[in-house]
Amino acid sequence: MKPDFETTWKSPSNIALVKYWGKHGAQLPNNASLSLTLKNAHTITTLKAYRLHSGLQVKYLFEEEHRPDFEAKVKRYIETLRNEMPFIDEYALEIQSRNSFPHSAGIASSASSMSALALCLVSLEYALQRNPTHTPAFFNRASFIARLGSGSASRSVFGQWATWGKIDGLPQTSDIYASPLRVKNAPLFQQMRDAVLLVSSSPKKVSSSMGHSLMNVHPFASARYRQANENLQALMFSMQVGDFETFASIVENEALTLHSLLMTSSDDGLLLKPGSLQLLEEIRQFREQTGARVCFTLDAGPNIHLLYPESEKEIVHGFIRDSLLGHCENQQWIDDEMGIGPEQIEPKRK
Ligand code: PMV
Repeated sequence: MKPDFETTWKSPSNIALVKYWGKHGAQLPNNASLSLTLKNAHTITTLKAYRLHSGLQVKYLFEEEHRPDFEAKVKRYIETLRNEMPFIDEYALEIQSRNSFPHSAGIASSASSMSALALCLVSLEYALQRNPTHTPAFFNRASFIARLGSGSASRSVFGQWATWGKIDGLPQTSDIYASPLRVKNAPLFQQMRDAVLLVSSSPKKVSSSMGHSLMNVHPFASARYRQANENLQALMFSMQVGDFETFASIVENEALTLHSLLMTSSDDGLLLKPGSLQLLEEIRQFREQTGARVCFTLDAGPNIHLLYPESEKEIVHGFIRDSLLGHCENQQWIDDEMGIGPEQIEPKRK
């Protein structure tokens, strides 16, 4: 049967430099965050919608396979959108998704997968309303819908640098959707790269929703939210003036703060592995000895993200090969860089 509507979106992952950790209400952030949108780590999702008037039905295939666990999660998410998108109750939705990175590599995929799905759903909504897509309003709506599935996914809808959460002095920013960072950065920060060093692919014991909720009872929570907002302002300034030293010190402090909060929230929050710590030491030593502009950040897991400007690519790739791969699981790493954001693949933009 031919679907009444079909679309495919490719949407990237992102890595936060100022972390979102702690939320309230309907997935609203307790502090603003800032991230780098990636290029190579992405999800491609196709949505086929059949208008059957028989109540919402969801069929979900991940990498061509039926995954009842993923399907149940996606269905729960789409059900939460009923108020926002009442038309979905008339549709049987067939969703197919695949990631560019190995699912078992310990790389968080919720940002790319939720944003790709949100872009597909908002494309359906806009088609029904006969509204033009690819407008600022379309992307804000997609970011809003993505946020309801995963907070960090709201930022993947925008390329390069994105922020999410109200920021003093930036009137376009909001808690309900992310925005592209509209300040002019120094050339050093106009094409950044991210090497993801895979330390362990074992699944983590603490989910991000559990981690966010543990922040509600963390004794350092209010100091953390204050610190995040100060770090965000100082980080944006360092990027405008091209001050890599300050940038590196804030980015690394944010990563270690996230893990300090994790470790002190729950016994399962110790996510760093011996290999992660060895890598952090190697990176700091290398920077001290060579003056190379490179620093690390971490997601809520043991893998290390090595951030550096394009101009340092040769020296950093040599460093990865010679000193870092030995600490990685099966010598695995992902060579990624700043990307321009999501892309609709089919049907082509009119
Ligand atoms: O989007 P969530 O609910 O999976 O939370 C992700 C939080 C971090 O990845 C740890 C930080 C961030 O801002 O992306």
